[in-house]
Parts: sequence; C-alpha cells; structure tokens
Amino acid sequence: MKIIGINASPRKKANTQTLVEAMLNGAAEKGAETRLVNLRELDINGCMGCEGCKKQIGKCVQRDDLTPLLQEMAASDAIVLGTPVYWYHVTAQFKMLVDRLYSFIDIAFNPETGEESIASKFPAGRKMSIVISRGDPEPPPLLPQFYDYLDEWLNLIPLSLNCEQYEVFHQYEAHLDRKAALNAPELLKQAARKGADLVAG
Ligand SMILES: Cc1cc2nc3c(=O)[nH]c(=O)nc-3n(C[C@H](O)[C@H](O)[C@H](O)COP(=O)(O)O)c2cc1C
Repeated sequence: MKIIGINASPRKKANTQTLVEAMLNGAAEKGAETRLVNLRELDINGCMGCEGCKKQIGKCVQRDDLTPLLQEMAASDAIVLGTPVYWYHVTAQFKMLVDRLYSFIDIAFNPETGEESIASKFPAGRKMSIVISRGDPEPPPLLPQFYDYLDEWLNLIPLSLNCEQYEVFHQYEAHLDRKAALNAPELLKQAARKGADLVAG
C-alpha cells in the first residue's frame, strides 16, 4: 500500500509537517510505503484559468512539479494533505494545489432539466486525511463564522479527489509555536493511529 503525505506549510519541520509525518509513520508501522512531499520545495504555478483541461478532463496544460505529483497521488492508495490555517483559510501553497485540481472537474449541464452537475474525474477509490494546524483554540475567540466557512470549503478537496472516505484531523492552540505538535505526545499518538487506520480495512 502506498501513501503520499503532502505538507503545505511554508515552515520547515513545523506543526503540519510533524503531524503529517506522524500519520505516515503510523501507516508505515502497519506496512505502508510512505513518502512526504513538502510543497514549499516544489516549483508549482497557479491555475491559469485557460480552461484547456475542459477539452480533455484531467489534463492540465501546464508542466511543472505538480505534473508528476498529481500522477503520484493518482497512483497512491491513500493521501494525507496537511495545511496550517492562514487567515481562516488554507495556505497559498495549498490553495495552489487545490486550484489545479480543477483540471479533474467535469461540470455538466442538462438542457432538459436545466440542472448543473459537478463530478471529478480523478481516479476514485482512495482514502484521505486532511491535517489542519491552527493557532486558535476551539471554540475560537474571534470570528467563528469564518471557521464554519473553512469547514465547508474543505469538503471540496475530497470532492475534487473523488475520495469518499476522508477525515479531518485538527491541531488547535499551536499559536505560532512551530514545536507545539512535537511537544504534544497525545496528539502525535492520535495522528499515528489515524495513519494506521488508513492502512486497516
Ligand atoms: C500569515 C498567518 C496567518 C495565520 N492565520 C491564522 C488564523 O486565521 N487562525 C489560526 O488559528 N491561526 C492562524 N495562524 C497560525 C498558524 O495556523 C499556526 O501557527 C500553525 O500551527 C502553523 O502551522 P506550521 O507550524 O505547520 O507552519 C496564522 C499564521 C500565519 C503565519
């Protein structure tokens, strides 16, 4: 079983990476072959909005470091995607990846019913975990409605990647301490258990 972990924090070896790695380690202990990718180390462009992918769904016209990464994701059995919360949303690195997943999206219009439907052509059938690290506690002291939006928005990722089985794993109260996860043994154990769950069943 192959599991790819993708860390979208611009910070090296900080909370998101620590938690994604803990998940991958938990999966590796159950026999999975794992690999961590740090998005910050890759040369990835934003979506150009050219709509080229709508002529051939799943084919982005751009060739950059995301091209082989998407192939690797499609060849994996499970994906762990991690991002810190930046301004009540994901990081720019993470958003860039999600925007490019638009290449797999097929939006169809039924002229008879007038209804639009949305589906992803990303190869189906893998499990996914989304790791979210944030400074705020839960419940948040300020602007909780923006977290409601973030929670809703995150559902776009399994939709884009055609994953029916997914979980969101949260780290709260990291503040700006990059070692907060490293110093939270119970959280690391929980992450490892979630990683092991990706392998089981
Ligand atoms: C630009 C920026 C914006 C942030 N915005 C939020 C936010 O809206 N809510 C929050 O809880 N934490 C916020 N944080 C804190 C990070 O989410 C937190 O430190 C997280 O643990 C960082 O992950 P990392 O250690 O993997 O880089 C922000 C941090 C930065 C640098």
